[in-house]
Amino acid sequence: KPDFRGKSFLCEKDFSKEEFVYMIEFAAKLKDMKKQGIPHRYMAGKNIALLFEKPSTRTRCAFTVACTDLGAHPEYLGKDDIQLGKKESIEDTAKVLGRMFDGIEFRGFEHSKVEMLAEHSGVPVWNGLTDMWHPTQTLADFLTVQENFGHLEGVKFVYVGDGRNNVANSLLIGGALVGMDVRICSPESLFPESSIVEMAKEMAQKSGGRVTITSDVDEAVNGADVIYTDVWVSMGEEDKFAERIALLSPYQVNMDMISKTGNENVIFLHCLPAFHDLETSYGRSVFEKHGLSEMEVTDEVFRSKHSKVFDQAENRMHTIKAVMALTLGNIEE
Ligand code: CP
Ligand code: NVA
Repeated sequence: KPDFRGKSFLCEKDFSKEEFVYMIEFAAKLKDMKKQGIPHRYMAGKNIALLFEKPSTRTRCAFTVACTDLGAHPEYLGKDDIQLGKKESIEDTAKVLGRMFDGIEFRGFEHSKVEMLAEHSGVPVWNGLTDMWHPTQTLADFLTVQENFGHLEGVKFVYVGDGRNNVANSLLIGGALVGMDVRICSPESLFPESSIVEMAKEMAQKSGGRVTITSDVDEAVNGADVIYTDVWVSMGEEDKFAERIALLSPYQVNMDMISKTGNENVIFLHCLPAFHDLETSYGRSVFEKHGLSEMEVTDEVFRSKHSKVFDQAENRMHTIKAVMALTLGNIEE
């Protein structure tokens, strides 16, 4: 049984296949316990700092509820609450937080910041999204895959859209790690960085997985078990809408793409938030400005029987709970 105690969770590549799969299985166990009302206060008496430089619904709520269920106290520290890297160095802040808290979650821009927190705080640090990686998302996504297909190995997992963002990077590495047939489908100018592709290919060789990077939608989605997409413009790149819409329109997930898979049981996943209707004021302004009515996914697919996006969102909480409990909790089995 892998021993995670004291470890940080910054990106998928720091874990072995066995460890990654174990975290997902443990999350499934915690999900059952929660559904059955069985207490699991593995972190009773612990204090957890939740640092957010970017906004969040799922990650913040998942960490908060997970802490409460595990018996720990969460403390939210938003971008204007502390001086991280501005008036106080990341190193000093990390050392101070490490003297008071038992674990730290961080969401922000540069990945180097979360690495510095892990290096200097002396406590487990969990990455709640950086510009490079979104590893707690991958855990939730793979738990959802496991629930739908009963296994991860060999699953034809297709990510369509912006192939260079945090979610694409994480799914590529995570999928290769656990032995999926992972396909990233995007325009060439948005292909993942070659160093990440190389790393994924090496990992796939060990795990029995496969890695395909292609701009050809028909080739990518053929036989897909999972079609996954994310926003075309990530947090911090809001000036890129026009450019991304021009590049990514052929990569929209719509019913035509779903039928092209040839798989009745294909599931649709999205990390959320998704741009699929005009209900939000932000969405309305972007859609009107660019003369669009739909973006990375059509409302029809989002609300179809294929869509498992709300199971996926719920699974953020169970998987984050698993990461915290395994790295910091007192688990007697
Ligand atoms: N998927 C995800 O990370 O959502 P939030 O940005 O709401 O945390
Ligand atoms: N790629 C998106 C993911 C949001 C959860 C972003 O970084 O904004």
